[in-house]
Amino acid sequence: MADISVKIAGIELGSCIFNAAGPKDVTLKELEAIGASRSAAIAMKSCTKEPREGNEEPRYCALESGSINSMGLPNLGYKEYMKFPALLKSFGKPVIASVSGLCLEDNIQMLKAFSDSEVSAIELNLSCPNIKGKPQIGYDFVQMDEVLKEALKISKKPAGVKLPPYFDFVHFEEAAGILKRRKPAFISCINSIGNALVIDAEKEATVIRPKGGFGGLGGKYIKYTALANVRKFYELIDIPIIGVGGVSSGRDAFEFILAGASAVQIGTAFMEEGPSVFARVQDELASFMARKGYSRLDDFRGKLKVI
Ligand code: DHB
Repeated sequence: MADISVKIAGIELGSCIFNAAGPKDVTLKELEAIGASRSAAIAMKSCTKEPREGNEEPRYCALESGSINSMGLPNLGYKEYMKFPALLKSFGKPVIASVSGLCLEDNIQMLKAFSDSEVSAIELNLSCPNIKGKPQIGYDFVQMDEVLKEALKISKKPAGVKLPPYFDFVHFEEAAGILKRRKPAFISCINSIGNALVIDAEKEATVIRPKGGFGGLGGKYIKYTALANVRKFYELIDIPIIGVGGVSSGRDAFEFILAGASAVQIGTAFMEEGPSVFARVQDELASFMARKGYSRLDDFRGKLKVI
């Protein structure tokens, strides 16, 4: 069987496949289900300083080939998530905190706290599209530079950044310049494509309620944008990349690694299929690699050919 283990920012992962921050990872019970699955790590829901109920329902809708959501950061508040790594120890896998503060001070406070907790790594989320009146920090390069400058120097744990999708080479280059300067331990790309609008023609209505029906698009619809972001950053910077966006098969995971990803997270497919998705995608990836004659991820990582 092919070896699909990987080490990122000093953290050993039994496989390169784990859950994306977001779906089914808010409560301890949900996190235990991820622990009991073959997810290589347990990524926790993006948290804020105070607990939040999130946006009004309905706020998630499964679509033919993906999903739209405007959850609005429902979470238990960071103090709860600081307790969970100890309670999830028996699963023997890294626990990753996701921090999504509503202002710089909150991010700094939470990073400091998680830095002294038992989490293995921290993902600083600069790309939540669903908070009313709060633009995505990853689209404001001045603010992004400022946050990373202040936040990354605080963390004693490996701290990475969750990025929004970029679409223009000039923006990739600008973001890459900041990342080169601030040196996160890893980058995760991409978050959902923000502020999509799905319409039910029969009902002549939106499919989710918050923000006039606008929400983050996930799943298969966004895979090619996600692959482009992984590839572009792989070309521009020397920082491990975690690919996320539309992965639902071993073949998808293979494509992300070929584009340059070190590991791959699963969001919408986990939401729809449940925890068995991790075993299925890992087994499919290992079989696909075996068919190609690859025995480890380094055999093909980043080696995309341009025809
Ligand atoms: C939410 C959505 C995101 O895409 C994200 O990165 C963080 C939070 C949410 O709406 O809860």
